[in-house]
Amino acid sequence: MADTIRKVVFPVAGLGTRFLPATKASPKEMLPVVDRPLIQYAVEEAVAAGADTLVFITGRTKRAIEDHFDKAYELEVELEAKGKHAMLELVRNTVPDGVNCIYIRQGEALGLGHAVLCAQPVVGREPFGVILADDLIDGGDDPVLSQMVRQHRAHGCSILGVERVPQSETEKYGVVSGSDFGPRLSQLDGIVEKPSPDQAPSNLAVVGRYILTPAIFDLLAKTKPDSRGEIQLTDAIAALLEYERILAHEFEGRRYDCGSKLGYLKATLEYGLRHPELGEEFAAYLRERGAA
Ligand code: G1P
Repeated sequence: MADTIRKVVFPVAGLGTRFLPATKASPKEMLPVVDRPLIQYAVEEAVAAGADTLVFITGRTKRAIEDHFDKAYELEVELEAKGKHAMLELVRNTVPDGVNCIYIRQGEALGLGHAVLCAQPVVGREPFGVILADDLIDGGDDPVLSQMVRQHRAHGCSILGVERVPQSETEKYGVVSGSDFGPRLSQLDGIVEKPSPDQAPSNLAVVGRYILTPAIFDLLAKTKPDSRGEIQLTDAIAALLEYERILAHEFEGRRYDCGSKLGYLKATLEYGLRHPELGEEFAAYLRERGAA
């Protein structure tokens, strides 16, 4: 069992149709929440959890993500010349030293399972993390992936980040069933992708955080596309259950579904309110508007 999770996969090839036209020519993962793009929050969470290799599964129109984590030579020279050192640090520190970014193109939109399978040549035979940047999760001082890495260390198996959702919303998620395994933990006995509320085995939904053992790759390679032609990660996880224990971890923190406009607005509001430079003024503005 690996002691820590070194590699984290970021599937970022999705089209982001719910944010059109904003996402026509630029990736949905680059939508900013106050002053940082969603993908940067995800990367910071991975790095905080100990990752040193970030694997982005990209597609067309995703060049901005590569540029964001690359050196911005002209910009850095200009900021340096103008003595804008604080800004220079912000621009330089999108990825800390010693952390490598690797980009793999997912040629066709064949689903989340296929995206994760694309990472196999880089991940190899070690446990790895997956973060879906749409699910922005504020874990405070203890980011969610770090919580999950601790569970992985303690139990040596795949860990899924889960959250209770209203029964009426099970159709939006992978939903698990299982039995109690300790505080905030359950041992899976089943998982289904997007069940209707009356068919859902529970209201415990998988959100965009996974720690997976490499056995998932063999199962993904065998997983048949669903009715929409997509290879579902959920189906491969269900198959993995036949061979390995899988635990679901009810994380501590607050999740914002930034794949939806409402969730994105809520995140912007909350992160704005506690922004060190803007928070007070923003709160005053909302009070003035009778909204806070
Ligand atoms: C994907 C997964 C789903 C999971 C969800 C979390 O769905 O297929 O199991 O619950 O992410 O955000 P998507 O939102 O990409 O349709």
